Amino acid sequence: MRAAVLRRPGGPEALRVEHVPEPSVGPGESLIDVSLSGINFDDLEQRSGTQPGLPLPTVLGLEAAGRRRTDGRRVVALLRRGGGYAEVVAARDAYTVEIPAGLDDAHAVGLFEQGGTAYGALLLAGRLRAGESVAVSAAAGGVGHLAVQLALALGASPVIGLASTPAKRRFVTALGADVALDPADPELADRLREAAGGIGVDVFVDSVGGAVASAGLAALAPFGRLVCLGWRPGPDAPAGTHPPAGTHPPGPVDPADAGVVAVTTAQLAHGSIGCAGFWMRHVVDHRDLLCRIADRLFALAAQGRLTVHVDRTVALHEVGAAHAAVAARATTGKVLVDVRREV
Ligand SMILES: NC(=O)c1ccc[n+]([C@@H]2O[C@H](COP(=O)([O-])OP(=O)(O)OC[C@H]3O[C@@H](n4cnc5c(N)ncnc54)[C@H](OP(=O)(O)O)[C@@H]3O)[C@@H](O)[C@H]2O)c1
Repeated sequence: MRAAVLRRPGGPEALRVEHVPEPSVGPGESLIDVSLSGINFDDLEQRSGTQPGLPLPTVLGLEAAGRRRTDGRRVVALLRRGGGYAEVVAARDAYTVEIPAGLDDAHAVGLFEQGGTAYGALLLAGRLRAGESVAVSAAAGGVGHLAVQLALALGASPVIGLASTPAKRRFVTALGADVALDPADPELADRLREAAGGIGVDVFVDSVGGAVASAGLAALAPFGRLVCLGWRPGPDAPAGTHPPAGTHPPGPVDPADAGVVAVTTAQLAHGSIGCAGFWMRHVVDHRDLLCRIADRLFALAAQGRLTVHVDRTVALHEVGAAHAAVAARATTGKVLVDVRREV
C-alpha cells in the first residue's frame, strides 16, 4: 500500500510517500480501506519531534474514514497510534463508529476528532448552558470553526471567535459568530469583555495559550470557565520538550515555554472562576461516551447545524505541504487527505 512515511523528525519534507506492507491487525482491531484521512495540529508536532518519543519509522494521521474490510461498512476511526496517512489502516474497533447514511466521509472525518474536541471543550469541560457567552480562540481552524457552530447550536449567546486575519474573521462571522476579534489586539481582554456585554465571558475555549489564554482568563465573568485544549510552544521552548499530548499523568512542562500560563488559586478564588482542560484521548476509552458524542454531532450535521468546511483536500504526496500551510496559519476549517489520489 502507499503511505506518507516519517523516518526521522523534521520539516514537512520529512513526510515521503512509500510503498509499505499493509498493517497487521491485533485483537480488537479491523483493517479499513481508507478513503479520506485528516490533518490535525498534533500531527505537525509529532512530525517535527516537538512531541518526543514517537517510535520511527511511522505513519502519522489520527483519523480516517473508509470501508471496513470485514463487512464493507462505511466507518470512521480515531487512530491513537496514527496510521491515517495511508491506503489501509488497522483501527481499534472500540474507537471506530459507523458513518450514518447521508453523512459524507469528509464530515465524518472532520466531526469525529475535531468536532468531538469542540463538544468536549464546551460541554464536558466547559459545562456550557444555553444563554451563556462563549469565546473560542483559533476560531477559523479545524476545531475552532466547529466549536463556534456547536456553541451556537447549543444556544450560547453571544459567541465570539478569535482569528488572526480579516479574511479569517469574516469566515468566523459567516459561521454565525456574533463578533470576531484579533487575538493580537493588545487590549484583547477588554475587547472580549465588551463583546460579552461588559460582564465577561462565561466559557473561553483556548487552544493557543500564552497571551491569548491570559487575556481569556482576565476576561472571564464571575463563575466563568477557561477550557484549555493545548498551547503553541513559545519561541523559547526548545524542540523536544513539549510533553506528549494526552499522557496521564501529564508530563513535565518546560518552564521556559511561554505558551504555558500559570494560574494561582488566589485568581480562581477572587474571580470565582474555574479552569478546566480537555483532551479527546480521555474520551476514546469510554465507548458509550464516544458513541454518544458522535451520534449527537452526526445528527446536528444532518440537520444542517454543523458543517465541516473543507479548506483543501490533498493527495498523500502533498501532506507535507499541507502541514506547512497549517503551521503558517494559512488554513481555515478542515484539511483532508484523499489517500487514493495519486496526482
Ligand atoms: N485537547 C484535544 O483533545 C485537542 C484535540 C484536537 C486539537 N487540539 C488542539 O486544538 C488546536 C487546534 O487544532 P487544529 O488541528 O484544529 O488546528 P487549526 O486550528 O486548524 O490550526 C491552528 C490554528 O491555531 C492558530 N495559531 C495560533 N498561534 C499559532 C502558531 N504559533 N502557529 C500555528 N498556529 C497558530 C492559527 O489560527 P489564527 O491564525 O487564526 O490564530 C491556526 O490556524 C491545537 O492546539 C491542537 O493541539 C486539542
